[in-house]
Amino acid sequence: MKIFLDTVDIEFLKEFSITGLIDGITTNPLLLSKSNLECHDLIFNICSLITGPVSIEVISTSYKDMIKEGLEISKIADNIVVKLPLTYDGLIACKVLSYEYNVKVNVTLCFSVSQAILAAKVGAYFISPFVGRIDDIGQSGMQLIEAIHKIYTNYNNAFNTEIIVASVRSVTHVIQAAKIGADIVTVPPSIFKQMFMHPLTDKGLEDFLQNWNASGKKMFSS
Ligand code: G3P
Repeated sequence: MKIFLDTVDIEFLKEFSITGLIDGITTNPLLLSKSNLECHDLIFNICSLITGPVSIEVISTSYKDMIKEGLEISKIADNIVVKLPLTYDGLIACKVLSYEYNVKVNVTLCFSVSQAILAAKVGAYFISPFVGRIDDIGQSGMQLIEAIHKIYTNYNNAFNTEIIVASVRSVTHVIQAAKIGADIVTVPPSIFKQMFMHPLTDKGLEDFLQNWNASGKKMFSS
């Protein structure tokens, strides 16, 4: 399973890209609007730090403008993926950008199986179902992932769309996504950190080192 980070936090990316664990980046207009940096520079910097796909969402809502904006965004760097909302216009723009211009598209704000089928049919490179927001309305985000995964597998030769499990709220979501076999999870930095932290690891290490230091032994003789 690939792990993407859902962030525009350059400092975090600088610190954690060294792990080799960050396979890509997703962003959205809300995240971009909160940054103090100028948009183009910010996107360029992210794309230089991370070699994997970087999803940048259009602001336009009509398909003609989405296509124009998507083409502009795609010129910023080679690893850009244009993010389009799962609307009627978004699906048309996805078809044109994917099939006519060979631009990779991440279709976002997916909340149903039928939406995911349509996105795959118009050539989406990624589909982003929002599991947390589905859980928020009392339904199961993971059931949606399971259904989409099954259907995409049924039509393996026709649908090449990869599933990005988005709107992830917990490490449990990540584990459930992996059990289903989803291609990718995109997580906020806080959840990425929670994935490798465990209090018993810290406690165990502290105990080992305390005992080692008390023994007065040396690892190497010279
Ligand atoms: O990747 C989707 C994410 O940006 C939205 O997450 O937490 O606002 O539902 P959230």
